[in-house]
Amino acid sequence: MDLIEALNWRYATKRMTGEKIAESDLNIILEAIRLTPTAYGLQPFKVVVTRNEDLIGEIYRKSCPQIVIRQCSHLLVFKARKKLDSEYLEGYLKEMKRQRNSTDEYIDGYRSKILRVIDDPQINKFSWMIRQTYIALGYATVAAAASGIDATPIEGFDAQSLNEVLRLDTEKEEAVVMLALGYRDEKEDKLIYLPKIRKPMDLLVEKI
Ligand SMILES: Cc1cc2nc3c(=O)[nH]c(=O)nc-3n(C[C@H](O)[C@H](O)[C@H](O)COP(=O)(O)O)c2cc1C
Repeated sequence: MDLIEALNWRYATKRMTGEKIAESDLNIILEAIRLTPTAYGLQPFKVVVTRNEDLIGEIYRKSCPQIVIRQCSHLLVFKARKKLDSEYLEGYLKEMKRQRNSTDEYIDGYRSKILRVIDDPQINKFSWMIRQTYIALGYATVAAAASGIDATPIEGFDAQSLNEVLRLDTEKEEAVVMLALGYRDEKEDKLIYLPKIRKPMDLLVEKI
């Protein structure tokens, strides 16, 4: 499958078979998340990966009663940071200096650029970090499709109870979106043969 074929093949699967995906396929999806571009490269998110039936059952009962959760192979929970504190920022800049052998002058300039965002009272930092997190969701979804793995993005959950189930320190991070990975149940999923509803190109793209 080429990329566009894969994107036509994929859909937000509502019924999965429960079959486990291979570790190698999972790793491709996780690597795509790792390689996701983010503003200034800060990657202000983390991803919880689980195939633990007890945990998934608890998430289903308490925060997200969508059947696909019970039927997936693995569930990814994307968590966004609440704050970009100086410890996190300096850790990132230190790593940049180490890996790229950057000069102090360059790192100071880069820090100033990032601080312009962090210190801007007009910018809602959590919302900014959530936006970065959704780019990773997109990359994961495309990587899954390219590997022939079904993936359902899931935003329809009770965030407060999901944070509680995952025992998150909500001063530091919150669950913002999930991705259920697995294989479509071709007999049970009524959506499988429906056409995609998408705008025609000329209503989506303005060429100027
Ligand atoms: C951020 C996001 C959140 C979504 N949340 C849910 C959800 O909670 N449950 C669900 O069944 N589908 C969910 N979807 C799937 C969309 O409804 C679906 O992607 C859209 O209708 C387009 O259809 P397609 O992906 O099958 O092409 C979500 C998709 C995105 C991108």
